[in-house]
Amino acid sequence: MDNQPKRYDDFVAVGTNKIHRTALIAEDVELGENNIIGAFTVIGGYGGMLGDFSAKGKVVIGDNNIIHNHVEIKGPYRTAITRIGNNNLIMDYVNVGHDCVVEDHCVIASGSRVAGCCHIESWASLGLNAVIHQRIRIGHTSMVGMGSIVMANAEPEYVYVGQPARKKKKNVKGIARRDQQS
Ligand SMILES: CC(C)(COP(=O)(O)OP(=O)(O)OC[C@H]1O[C@@H](n2cnc3c(N)ncnc32)[C@H](O)[C@@H]1OP(=O)(O)O)[C@@H](O)C(=O)NCCC(=O)NCCS
Repeated sequence: MDNQPKRYDDFVAVGTNKIHRTALIAEDVELGENNIIGAFTVIGGYGGMLGDFSAKGKVVIGDNNIIHNHVEIKGPYRTAITRIGNNNLIMDYVNVGHDCVVEDHCVIASGSRVAGCCHIESWASLGLNAVIHQRIRIGHTSMVGMGSIVMANAEPEYVYVGQPARKKKKNVKGIARRDQQS
């Protein structure tokens, strides 16, 4: 019945992808295979710039990504593509800004905010509520601690923590995760 609450597990199969019925996916989003997209997630559409609201390209999403509830992935404004690669885990309430690239095997924990034109290299992890300034590159297999604010590029394979985030130590756990899974 229409007045019944929406079911939490009300997913629709679109090819090999499972998309929650409440998710909003723009028409020009390219979706690969075996992705799961959660409730109230919004992918594509306008990039949210002052003056000109329209997206200038599309969002391209690869394969085997799990994108949880209430995630927002903005369409591009400065380039042709906002890109999410393969095998990423993007948790609840994450915002991925316009023109961002998230490569492969990244974990972006709940509440993280990635501003426009950032590049998150493969195997990087962002802790809960991490905030990434626009145009920042997060190096592969690096870890940004929960609540940290990243204002400069992060080198590969290091842990960054604090506000602003500073390089703390080698990301031994992240390197082990990568080496076990690849
Ligand atoms: C960054 C992180 C991985 C470091 O964990 P760790 O390797 O066990 O390191 P430690 O706890 O020993 O901390 C090392 C140092 O960094 C500091 N530190 C750790 N995390 C920090 C953070 N988020 N912000 C500021 N400082 C932090 C510690 O205070 C410690 O400082 P010290 O050397 O001056 O004593 C961890 O603190 C973190 O933020 N994990 C993310 C958790 C998360 O988001 N989980 C979501 C799962 S769904």
